[in-house]
Amino acid sequence: MRTLHLRTSIARVFPPRRPLLLPTRHASTAATDARSAVTRTKNLIYGTSLTLGILLGYLYVTDTRASIHQWLVTPALRLIYPDGEDAHHAGTGVLKALYSFGIHPRERGSPDASGDLEVEIFGQTLSNPIGTSAGIDKGGEVPTQLLALGPAIVEVGGVTPLPQPGNPKPRVFRLPSQNALINRYGFNSEGAEMVAMRLRHRVREFAYHMGYGIDEEAEQMVLDGEAGVPPGSLTPGRLMAVQITKNKNTSEHDIEAVKRDYSFCVKYLGKYADIIVVNVSSPNTPGLRALQNVEPLTHILRSVVQAVKQVERKNKPVIMVKVSPDEDSEEQVSGICEAVWASGVDGVIVGNTTMKRPDPLPKGFLLPKSEANIVLEQGGYSGPQMFERTLALVKRYRKMLDHGPKQIESSEFEKPVSGHSTGDEPSSSIIDKLESSNTKAGNLLNSATSSIGASTERSKEDAAPAPKTHGSRKVIFATGGITNGTQAREILGAGASVAMVYTALIYGGVGTITRIKEEMRDDAKKATKSQ
Ligand SMILES: Cc1cc2nc3c(=O)[nH]c(=O)nc-3n(C[C@H](O)[C@H](O)[C@H](O)COP(=O)(O)O)c2cc1C
Ligand SMILES: *[C@@H]1O[C@H](CO)[C@@H](O)[C@H](O)[C@H]1NC(C)=O
Ligand SMILES: *[C@@H]1O[C@H](CO)[C@@H](O)[C@H](O)[C@H]1NC(C)=O
Ligand SMILES: *[C@@H]1O[C@H](CO)[C@@H](O)[C@H](O)[C@H]1NC(C)=O
Ligand SMILES: *[C@@H]1O[C@H](CO)[C@@H](O)[C@H](O)[C@H]1NC(C)=O
Repeated sequence: MRTLHLRTSIARVFPPRRPLLLPTRHASTAATDARSAVTRTKNLIYGTSLTLGILLGYLYVTDTRASIHQWLVTPALRLIYPDGEDAHHAGTGVLKALYSFGIHPRERGSPDASGDLEVEIFGQTLSNPIGTSAGIDKGGEVPTQLLALGPAIVEVGGVTPLPQPGNPKPRVFRLPSQNALINRYGFNSEGAEMVAMRLRHRVREFAYHMGYGIDEEAEQMVLDGEAGVPPGSLTPGRLMAVQITKNKNTSEHDIEAVKRDYSFCVKYLGKYADIIVVNVSSPNTPGLRALQNVEPLTHILRSVVQAVKQVERKNKPVIMVKVSPDEDSEEQVSGICEAVWASGVDGVIVGNTTMKRPDPLPKGFLLPKSEANIVLEQGGYSGPQMFERTLALVKRYRKMLDHGPKQIESSEFEKPVSGHSTGDEPSSSIIDKLESSNTKAGNLLNSATSSIGASTERSKEDAAPAPKTHGSRKVIFATGGITNGTQAREILGAGASVAMVYTALIYGGVGTITRIKEEMRDDAKKATKSQ
């Protein structure tokens, strides 16, 4: 279809050739004139076609739908950079450079404008339910460029308070036959100050373009929402999350030190984020009773809620915690949900890489020799194999979180709307699904609707012993093995509001998010037709 479109535009610019009409004077000069006219016309045609070629090439290459990104750019990067980390740096470097010339790849034609993929979260309307997950842009170097690829959520980070080098290289490994990765970065980070500086620069540039000036006051105007865009993403209908984690040499068992690490990060990064994501250890100290395990986590999350209240911005960021798929025992899941309710954080990002090694896909497939050793590398595994686990975990978290705070679960807490989508029902249309998973059930549960900025009021409530009129429905983002629109729809149907991708983007290239959204629309149409 795209080729056809290109062909018609070319035909329009180059109509079928007509004989050249030349004035006849003296034979010789006429011949010379004719020759030069032909030359001129030729030059004109060559010149035009060159310009046109460049223009069309530009339109094609910068369009995220162009298949060149999948078939050329991604394998080429892999070939040129045998090391996964080098390839990643090259990729983001290219994105940055192209952006500075205004020729970065971007989603064209505003496919989200029709609103068919919109999702309501935190009192805001997201233009679509796709996000990019943590680790793609650890340093906050390319959030704008990533947003241009079409997601409604971009997660920057993880960022540690002080800079730390992470593990020795190599620390990223590819399993191309599986479209999978193994990484043991160990949270390499330039530190909160450096990342905050970059994000501040981005806001100030935006303020300048808006005509507010480039000083602190201009920055504050944008952060306070006067430009009419979310202060993190700086783009309507989209949000930027920033993930914070503790330094490696901060002991997990020193709760006060962990709190200080998170507070430090929030102090620097909080005002540039729409969402603060906290990487937490789930409560699982053997020998401790469930409640004893939940307590430290609740304290840590409460301290993040407190720190966010201090953020110098009119509307404060919301807070989500990211949990590991390996911490999936009943006690761990319920412990995390309890801490989420007790602390007043706004949601959970379900999924991550896994320490386990899933069976290769398709079933019965034997890994090529070159990959058989790689799969033994230590680190977190990510890839399409993770999808079913992520889906199952999302369902569990949805159910558990919808039960509300545990203390009152058994008695008077009102259960959420019965019949809310669990993903088991046959899908009708995407709108139905999104509504049932987010809007319908969400609104009925929302008393004081969560919004960017509502954290403050809500945490006051949270300090009181679990009132019945407790805050809004907790939001879930899903990450882990999501590669296509069908899966994205499935995971949203299971109760997530956003489907996030990382590894699929590495193997699929910059057009991946546009493709996933297109597939979601196609699936929704098919579902409507078959009804
Ligand atoms: C190279 C790499 C680096 C990552 N870095 C982080 C990180 O800093 N923080 C984090 O929470 N998750 C990190 N992740 C996990 C991803 O955010 C994502 O949750 C995981 O890869 C599963 O999603 P996927 O199957 O779409 O890749 C990283 C993943 C990869 C592959
Ligand atoms: C922890 O590590 C960072 C750098 O990696 C260093 O600056 C800091 O001093 C260390 N802190 C302690 C308590 O060792
Ligand atoms: C992040 O959380 C995981 C457990 O979910 C924990 O093992 C890890 O130490 C945490 N990392 C940091 C840097 O806090
Ligand atoms: C996610 O997995 C990585 C290992 O790939 C680990 O270092 C990190 O702590 C995990 N985060 C959470 C929240 O479990
Ligand atoms: C989506 O991806 C999964 C996992 O790779 C695959 O099994 C499934 O067939 C894909 N669905 C579509 C419609 O492409």
